[in-house]
Amino acid sequence: MSENNTATYTVENRIAWVKFNRPEKRNCMSPALNQRMMEILDEVEHHPDTGVLVLSGEGTAWSAGMDLKEYFRETEAKGLGATRQAQRESYGWWRRLRWFQKPTIAMVNGWCFGGGYGPLFACDLAFAAEEAQFGLSEINWGILPGGGATKVAVELLGFRNAMYHAMMGENIDGKKAADWGLVNEAVPLAQLQVRVTEVADVLLKKNPVALKAAKDAIRRVGEMTYDNAEDYLIRAQEAANFFDNDGRKDGIRQFLDDKSYKPGLGAYKVQS
Ligand code: ACO
Repeated sequence: MSENNTATYTVENRIAWVKFNRPEKRNCMSPALNQRMMEILDEVEHHPDTGVLVLSGEGTAWSAGMDLKEYFRETEAKGLGATRQAQRESYGWWRRLRWFQKPTIAMVNGWCFGGGYGPLFACDLAFAAEEAQFGLSEINWGILPGGGATKVAVELLGFRNAMYHAMMGENIDGKKAADWGLVNEAVPLAQLQVRVTEVADVLLKKNPVALKAAKDAIRRVGEMTYDNAEDYLIRAQEAANFFDNDGRKDGIRQFLDDKSYKPGLGAYKVQS
């Protein structure tokens, strides 16, 4: 797999910059790309030099969705086994990303279509270029938005917007994506990396055990009753204490005794 550079990454100042790297194909996701992404997540997830992962795309696209030739047509020609394998590989790395150990940020620099909503939703936070274009284009070529895309629309958009988005096959730009809640924020493309770096730098200063517990909790509690969520959150914090029992005590001490910070205004100094 060493020849496979359909996705790449570099690490700089504790940020892993992961990129879709098929710019000539608008970064659409082929089986080779899906396999390479899983390898990259394996390499980055527990690497001590990384604290945040950012996912962006080389060239003019973030990702033009699934590769209609290599992921659909050629895989289907090989039969059901190959189709299921390709699905396992794509859904596999998106699932891995949804529950990634470290905070993840989608930096949507351009086109984002269909299957691209899988990794988009998998990232904890999402920042888009105002110029980026988002679309559930499946309906334009005759299928429903599968591969989780319909679920993403329902999770992130209101009912009317989700229905319109899935049925009309019209694109929305980054600004509208932010208005609709598909991404956190949109900024001009020229400022996108600076803004994402700013956000990543804030995350790098927080307690990493608490961040993992918090991001998982946000994804989990949506499906729970209030009582179940209340109980889950107690258990999740107690489990976090198993990995880091001193952090929160430091946090309290630095506020109450040292008076070196105020939790309402910023983070305590995490011991490295
Ligand atoms: N699958 C396969 N090939 C693709 C895909 C894709 N999803 N997207 C782009 N390509 C290929 C094109 O066929 C073209 O290949 P070629 O150079 O061999 O002819 C190359 O990438 C460049 O694409 P262009 O269309 O020439 O690029 P342009 O910048 O003009 O348009 C756009 C970009 C709008 C993204 C266009 O490529 C497009 O509509 N792509 C398909 C988007 C889509 O609907 N994706 C599927 C979503 S549904 C799903 O994921 C399940």
